[in-house]
Amino acid sequence: MVETGHAYAKINLSLDIVSKMDDGYHNLKTIMQTVDLSDEITLECLPGEGFSIDSGRPYLPGDERNIAVKAAHVFFEHTGISGYHTKIEIIKNIPVCAGLGGGSSDGACVLRLLDKMFETGLGLETLETLGNKIGSDVPFSISGGTKLAEGRGEKLTNLPPLPQCYILITKPPFSNSTPELFGYIKCEKIRARPDTDGIIKALGNGDLGGIARRMYNVFEDVLPRGKTEIAEIKEVMLDSGAPGSVMTGSGPTVIGVFDNKDNAMTAYERLKKDYEECYLTQTIV
Ligand code: C5P
Repeated sequence: MVETGHAYAKINLSLDIVSKMDDGYHNLKTIMQTVDLSDEITLECLPGEGFSIDSGRPYLPGDERNIAVKAAHVFFEHTGISGYHTKIEIIKNIPVCAGLGGGSSDGACVLRLLDKMFETGLGLETLETLGNKIGSDVPFSISGGTKLAEGRGEKLTNLPPLPQCYILITKPPFSNSTPELFGYIKCEKIRARPDTDGIIKALGNGDLGGIARRMYNVFEDVLPRGKTEIAEIKEVMLDSGAPGSVMTGSGPTVIGVFDNKDNAMTAYERLKKDYEECYLTQTIV
């Protein structure tokens, strides 16, 4: 039995941290959007047992520390289905450790593909609940689109889609540690926050400028010194005509929202000279 599918990247149009929870996790308020940059996943289930994974990236874990393997394990545990060896092949196109939710999206895609393959009809709610056991961004990636995510990331509300636009994605050549950045956040000391409610209102009005101008990510305030490329990339995006630019997730990737393709292409050509991981994308509703 074989199934194939796309695992799409996400961007955060805004990211706010409301409070720290007793279990050490943080209570988020973030608007997420799916974009058309994707990994390709092939899943094969053969008689046998265990898991194998080939992601073409030797530095990614090949055992249950890999979100895709964890997702398969969670699926079989929940459904009680047994007697299969699961082979997972991933063609990675989404930059890793980038704030683009690539690993989480791979996990969500594995859950969807297994549900289809075994005709288990788990439904959105159960798939999201299983996703929540795997990672904080996985529930969003089950159906994607444009959503407000709260709590750890599991409380999801559908929002009106982002108006038609071009989203330029640029990753500087280093990674941020997500737990480390969360560790720097002191909720009571956050100086600037995104206008989440204003973005939601602007989404309702189809007002791209109103959305782009309000985008902000509280992690930008606690970036370790020396990560100057993030500000430099933003500057190029804004200077090329983007009405807004923001770091996505825990970074270090920066996104720029453009209402016209010419400006987006200008920014792409300027940034591509210095940054290998540069992608011009559009949204997926
Ligand atoms: O759930 P996930 O594995 O994606 O989270 C990675 C790390 O990010 C966690 O170990 C935790 O340190 C931090 N985190 C958090 N609050 C969240 C999501 C993640 O503190 N809502």
